[in-house]
Amino acid sequence: AADNQPYRTSYHFQPPKNWMNGMVWPMLYKGIYHLFFQYNPKGAVWGNIVWGHSTSTDLVNWTPHEAAIYPSQPSDINGCWSGSATILPEGRPVILYTGIDPNNHQVQNLAMPKNLSDPFLREWVKSQDNPLMAPNTYNKINSSSFRDPTTGWLGRDGYWRVIIGSKINQKGLAILYKSKDFVHWEEAKKPLYSSKKSGMWECPDFYPVLIKSPLGIDTSIDGPNTKHVLKVSLDDTKHDYYKIGSYNQNKDVFIPDNGPFHKNSGLRYDYGKFYASKTFFEGNSKHRRILWGWVNESSSVEDDIKKGWSGVQAIPRSIWLDNSGKQLVQWPIKEIETLRLKEVNLPKQVLKGGSVLEVSGVTAAQADVIITFEITELSKAEVLDPSWTDPQLLCSRKGASVKGGIGPFGLLVLASKGLQEYTAVFYRIFKSHNKYVVLMCSDQSRSSLNHENDETTYGAFVDVDPVHGKLSLRSLIDHSIVESFGGEGKACITARVYPTLATDAEAHLYAFNNGTGNVGITTLSAWRGKISRRELYGTISPAP
Ligand code: FRU
Repeated sequence: AADNQPYRTSYHFQPPKNWMNGMVWPMLYKGIYHLFFQYNPKGAVWGNIVWGHSTSTDLVNWTPHEAAIYPSQPSDINGCWSGSATILPEGRPVILYTGIDPNNHQVQNLAMPKNLSDPFLREWVKSQDNPLMAPNTYNKINSSSFRDPTTGWLGRDGYWRVIIGSKINQKGLAILYKSKDFVHWEEAKKPLYSSKKSGMWECPDFYPVLIKSPLGIDTSIDGPNTKHVLKVSLDDTKHDYYKIGSYNQNKDVFIPDNGPFHKNSGLRYDYGKFYASKTFFEGNSKHRRILWGWVNESSSVEDDIKKGWSGVQAIPRSIWLDNSGKQLVQWPIKEIETLRLKEVNLPKQVLKGGSVLEVSGVTAAQADVIITFEITELSKAEVLDPSWTDPQLLCSRKGASVKGGIGPFGLLVLASKGLQEYTAVFYRIFKSHNKYVVLMCSDQSRSSLNHENDETTYGAFVDVDPVHGKLSLRSLIDHSIVESFGGEGKACITARVYPTLATDAEAHLYAFNNGTGNVGITTLSAWRGKISRRELYGTISPAP
């Protein structure tokens, strides 16, 4: 690339340079979306953490501002870590965040906008009462395991509640605090929820979802047509897991529908790279709950330092409860479709076993692709061995080059002309007793000739029935990130890749079928993307 930055994304959020990690908290205030994020103003590795701040009116184009919160009080002098915004009933936004104090203890602090008539809320003042919460000895909380307060929810008793991520030995927990005024907080006798052997819980999130409706609701709503979701970021595995269940407000406990959190299994927002995510409720006529997640690099630290940055945010996703009530569904926000320029379609056709079909006329390095398949020869599906319960392991054993019955079929993205490099996003269908099992994979093993990168293959089972429906796959491709949505958002896999040949104009897009059985393509739409917006983010000035 002309700017020698082939891996910078063009429509994913990233600061102009340096390190970014977990989201602090997104919010909408007077028609402006705010994104706060963990940011190192001094380099491309983690450290010197302040709150970077950008605003937007459409969630697509962002304006950077100076750091919103940076060390200035004893209670945050060694770092301003993750936290959350809450809009209080009179429309006043406040932020609770974790500060690192002079003893390197994690404590919780409050900050408020200095001037509510500044639409960008650029300056924040800190409460003189900080810290408002400190790890206390009676519950044996270690001062290095007490962080990341959530958005508050208001109970029927008039008390605000927030949870804080923690652990005691290896038991992960969400410590509950209550307050009348958002300043004076008291710890509840019991945590909202805990799970043995799950390790430290980072960035918890707790919110209601409507039953049988894709609309989002305010975080404080707790009614008959709702379920609650508890999400935790497990520090030991760096994945975001969630549980659907019910919230007993009288006892202030969460009861998941099916058992506790485990380190290596359970429902995830994303089966690839996606961590420290947060949702927010828009509170406008759009009635959406939107999920943001941080996607770190798969490149080496040396390469990150060379390119001068590390970390991007996934495209914001609408998130809601599936009609089954058993899982969440996610879909890229509609606004992202404004980046689609010219649509390229493939006619309905059979994709024969063993074939590769180029989709031309697309800006393949930055594209939005949706392909829909129809499976007619299901009898050719391989038999699923009952011991194959780990989808990631199954995908890594049966990558894109391993021929099957029905599948692998899907997309080769960020592919070089001679297929020396490609990232394969695909399905494989198995037979199991009298049902079919759909496996979705993102195989990075051939993504780059530079094998210094982490090339782990990711996988997920998708809860769709290939007999009665069409099977769709959407991929958002953006230079070094591939975000894929299977089964219309029932399974998501995000990958980071660094092709050496398939960059910018040299990137190609293909549909492929490496199974013995044929599959039908019913539709394929790909869009030429709008020109790179990489330069439009401007620069973030470091904290004063
Ligand atoms: C998540 C996290 C949080 C912490 C912050 C520090 O990635 O580790 O637990 O508050 O990042 O930057």
